[in-house]
Amino acid sequence: MTDTLLMKVEGLTKRFPGVLALDDVNLDIARGEVHAICGENGAGKSTLIKMLTGAYRPDEGTIAFEGEVCPALSPRKAMDIGIACIYQELNLIPHLSVAENIFLGREIFRSKAFDILDRKTMNTKAAELLADLDLHIRPEARLGTLGVGHQQMVEICRAVWADAKLIIMDEPTSSLSEKEAKDLFRIIARVKSRGVSVLFISHRLDEVRANCDRVTIMRDGKSVSTFAMKDSSIDDIIQLMVGRNIQNKYPKEVANRGDVILDVQGLTRKGVVNNVSFQLHAGEVLGFAGLVGAGRTETMRLVTGADPSDAGKIKVFGKDTTIRSPEDSIKAGIAFLTESRKEQGLVLIQSVEFNATLVKLGDFSKFGVLSLGRARDEAMKVVNGLRLKAAGLATPVGKLSGGNQQKVVIAKWLMSKAKIFIFDEPTRGIDVGAKVEVYRLINELVAKGAGVIIVCSEMEEVMGMADRILVMHEGRITGELSREEATQEKIMYAASGMEIRPAKAG
Ligand SMILES: Nc1ncnc2c1ncn2[C@@H]1O[C@H](COP(=O)(O)OP(=O)(O)OP(=O)(O)O)[C@@H](O)[C@H]1O
Ligand SMILES: [Mg+2]
Repeated sequence: MTDTLLMKVEGLTKRFPGVLALDDVNLDIARGEVHAICGENGAGKSTLIKMLTGAYRPDEGTIAFEGEVCPALSPRKAMDIGIACIYQELNLIPHLSVAENIFLGREIFRSKAFDILDRKTMNTKAAELLADLDLHIRPEARLGTLGVGHQQMVEICRAVWADAKLIIMDEPTSSLSEKEAKDLFRIIARVKSRGVSVLFISHRLDEVRANCDRVTIMRDGKSVSTFAMKDSSIDDIIQLMVGRNIQNKYPKEVANRGDVILDVQGLTRKGVVNNVSFQLHAGEVLGFAGLVGAGRTETMRLVTGADPSDAGKIKVFGKDTTIRSPEDSIKAGIAFLTESRKEQGLVLIQSVEFNATLVKLGDFSKFGVLSLGRARDEAMKVVNGLRLKAAGLATPVGKLSGGNQQKVVIAKWLMSKAKIFIFDEPTRGIDVGAKVEVYRLINELVAKGAGVIIVCSEMEEVMGMADRILVMHEGRITGELSREEATQEKIMYAASGMEIRPAKAG
């Protein structure tokens, strides 16, 4: 093992005010291995990665790369010695071509003195590189025209071109569809066969199981265990991560189905959503499945007035309702948890409590006087339910880990007194234990007579939690399946554009 050792991390410790984010972390990475880091939200995974890329300095401990201790790692230095990091917010430039992005900062010049790029050579080289990684992307294509999945792959190409020996990815699959994630792992396998190591973080344990050689588990800032994936199971990972077993990953409870509370007819936005009609009942969890880009998020944006529609009628609780803005939607009793964290309206410098009580402080005011005490009690209840890891309700949200910020968003909407909930990718970036808590909260909502729409790309999740599933393809609804009839095959069939009618309707 020692001759193949690429990186060795020993006794790494990092303190933030009031938080011991990393506590004596040890990690070794072999050449050409795919190594995962798993742990609950706030366990210290992203902080560890920021140390390895020189973004943060450790308080204690050492990082050795290819046998040499790197005492003063900076982002530049990390890149120079062969550590590349693919962040969630991609570092690419949308209006440049794929080739230009791959060579960004390492351009090939025809004349350096006159600053003339050798586009032809760059395009040819990029084409070779893309073909070598088995990627069907044109080097001349404008980057901005590609989906997130392909953009990520361009970043990987860039890392390979820069001769990276270690490519680090923090939750690379969280915004990818299952198919895109599969493609990513195919590329990772390619990169690995060239002797490059990959370190990646994911909350999707099935993909960790399927694609990693080894996994290191982190808990409360400590590295608690490292083991070969072939010797262990997903249950082992969960047990080490959360310190207990999770018997039932989808604790679905079927509630009584009531009247139609949301009735959408003929909703259309040219080129994106095409004549979409559906009904949501009280007590029902309605799942929207489909590939990324099928128009599910866009449909929900039209329903909630985030984007204007060209045609369509909406009835809420049986009444014709005009929704022109997100405020109209909240007034009508519809809560919308969007998929993009940046848009979720978290005020990062404000506290957990402030954010959680943001939506409907009005509910806590009596005779116009704001009862902060009551708001705080409720916030505390919801936040504890989600096992939020924060120093306290007064912690600024911007200081929380990614998954814990997501929990605040969920808490915020759960605190609103809406009757119709639209959750777009509700459990993205949330650890296994907290996912179960989110599902329990969904159970509670429908048991109290609310209706819930969930849009999710993880098929297991839709099948695990929805009472009824609608499948979309290219802006249309192509399939409807009851909980009983739904199978992965049927969903995939409709997601690729073939029609499936509900069995009951014949
Ligand atoms: N800049 C910061 N200032 C203060 N505390 C921080 C800062 N960055 C991270 N923390 C704290 O350090 C701990 C570890 O956070 P980190 O982001 O590493 O978690 P994570 O394992 O990546 O979680 P997730 O799965 O939610 O992304 C958390 O308690 C977090 O609140
Ligand atoms: Mg993180």
